[in-house]
Amino acid sequence: MRQDHLISAVDLSREDIEAVLDRAAEIDANPAAFRQRHAGTVLGLCFFEPSTRTRMSFDTAMKRLGGQTVDMGPVESSSVKKGETLADTVRVVEGYADALVLRHPSEGAATMAAEFIDVPLVNAGDGAGQHPSQTLLDLYTIRENAGLDDLTIGIMGDLKYGRTVHSLAEALTNFDVNQHFISPESLQLPRNVRYDLHASGASVKEHTELDEVLPELDVLYVTRIQRERFPDENEYLKVAGEYKIDDETLAAASDDLVIMHPLPRVDEIAPEIDDSDHAKYFEQAHNGIPVRMALLDILLSNDD
Ligand code: NCD
Repeated sequence: MRQDHLISAVDLSREDIEAVLDRAAEIDANPAAFRQRHAGTVLGLCFFEPSTRTRMSFDTAMKRLGGQTVDMGPVESSSVKKGETLADTVRVVEGYADALVLRHPSEGAATMAAEFIDVPLVNAGDGAGQHPSQTLLDLYTIRENAGLDDLTIGIMGDLKYGRTVHSLAEALTNFDVNQHFISPESLQLPRNVRYDLHASGASVKEHTELDEVLPELDVLYVTRIQRERFPDENEYLKVAGEYKIDDETLAAASDDLVIMHPLPRVDEIAPEIDDSDHAKYFEQAHNGIPVRMALLDILLSNDD
């Protein structure tokens, strides 16, 4: 990897991505070989927003590499409640850990925090900005189930506030992928992401209806409407529940369609889909372990 931190998917080259995915595949094939790889290393977990998968999978990833973690714990019981700035918090935690994972409600928080510390920092979500480690496990899941070249993907739901979407769409420009974006008009991709996709020459189309494009898709990546990011609850209520996948929706889909979701889901995918061959979202969540082990392994080895 060219840089010490992982802040945005824009920073990832195809070589960077393949290095992480190949390392993750090695780990998947033989986890025992990595069990002591980073013995004595401590990873700091700083989560200023709720998290289940990301926090727990980074925690277990570090431990499965032989290391340990220190967790800031809930914001309510940390010094943030006393008015400590983010810059001070990360500078202090840097003294306790060899690398940091940061999730924060403000877009740009990880970029700012990285300026204050020397240990590797992973952006685990900055507001409606980026979530690049999620993208790496998404790409791993796509590569395993559909391949990463000559791929047609539909990305559906909250494209405006969904940070997993921003990172995934930008990372996919490194591969030969047709990207279709399906959302209500009010939740289309933000201007900066659109600009990045355009600048990279990616094949991109936008839709308001899934059935315009469903039969062509190899992968459908469904996302939750990010209720917590709407400035006005009424705006959320206008779009809530608009895009739902159930057996009936899938009648027009290819038999091989791979359905993914970063989780948590609310009601975007009916539980009846869970047992179908299309559903890969739990496998996707489990892939967080080898992929985050691989990412930590590479970032920590950079640092040696
Ligand atoms: C996502 C996030 O936090 O952006 N969750 C995750 O890390 N898997 C998606 C979401 O909250 O909808």
